Amino acid sequence: MLIILLGPPGAGKGTQAESIVKDYSLVYISTGDILRAAVKEDKELGRKAKHYMDQGSLVPDELVVEIVKDRLKDPDCQNGALFDGFPRTVEQAKFLDEALPEIGSMVDGVLLIEVDEDELIERLTGRRVCSKCNAVYHLKFNPPEVRNVCDQCGGDLYQRDDDSIETVKERLEVYKKQTGPLISFYKDKNVLYPVDGNEDISSVYKKIKAVLDKL
Ligand code: AP5
Ligand code: MG
Repeated sequence: MLIILLGPPGAGKGTQAESIVKDYSLVYISTGDILRAAVKEDKELGRKAKHYMDQGSLVPDELVVEIVKDRLKDPDCQNGALFDGFPRTVEQAKFLDEALPEIGSMVDGVLLIEVDEDELIERLTGRRVCSKCNAVYHLKFNPPEVRNVCDQCGGDLYQRDDDSIETVKERLEVYKKQTGPLISFYKDKNVLYPVDGNEDISSVYKKIKAVLDKL
């Protein structure tokens, strides 16, 4: 099964992905996580991408497509994958359409998680992420048991550089302009499944599960 998580920054893609990959045994591919790891490790990819990420802009398609091309070559992708934050432009979606037949796969479903803008801003500015395993928390909505410590691996939690209010606003605009067109792109292919993401984490997951169990 190959699933794409689509939705604005803060919609809960990474949060819901944690449960989906466990229940459906899918390989998790988050271009955002891969890029942040490259920045942290000071790799060439990270040095090229950092400036765009800090501004809240998209990293150029060529760089992102290379990441995904490399990842899809890994044998574990043969059994399906969960994409989070990719594709992000129509160009990236077209690349994926060309690359998937090579590994005998196709897009089974695109879950569009929809959340009101005020809620997105509150979620992003209160988010904390584990520096070791990337688990996602929220100071108010999903706090860890011990302050600033990951429940799953004991790693330290940090605030993402792009979660400042100014950068969040820019990311929301970039989503509308550059990623918004993917909604009709996948609707036309009859693989788009909108999910109301405004409710609490477990209620949203129930709706996602209802969709995935029918695919
Ligand atoms: P990326 O890492 O993909 O970030 P994003 O798309 O902006 O999405 P987020 O990770 O911010 O939100 P999310 O939906 O995962 O929400 P989360 O579950 O964390 O990309 C970062 C940057 O990398 C981009 O700006 C770009 O520069 C670059 N990039 C990445 N991919 C690219 C690509 N393909 N092309 C070009 N550039 C690319 O939840 C948010 C918060 O809300 C958390 O605190 C969580 O605990 C809380 N929460 C979640 N669900 C709920 C709920 N139901 N109720 C209450 N709180 C909730
Ligand atoms: Mg995320």
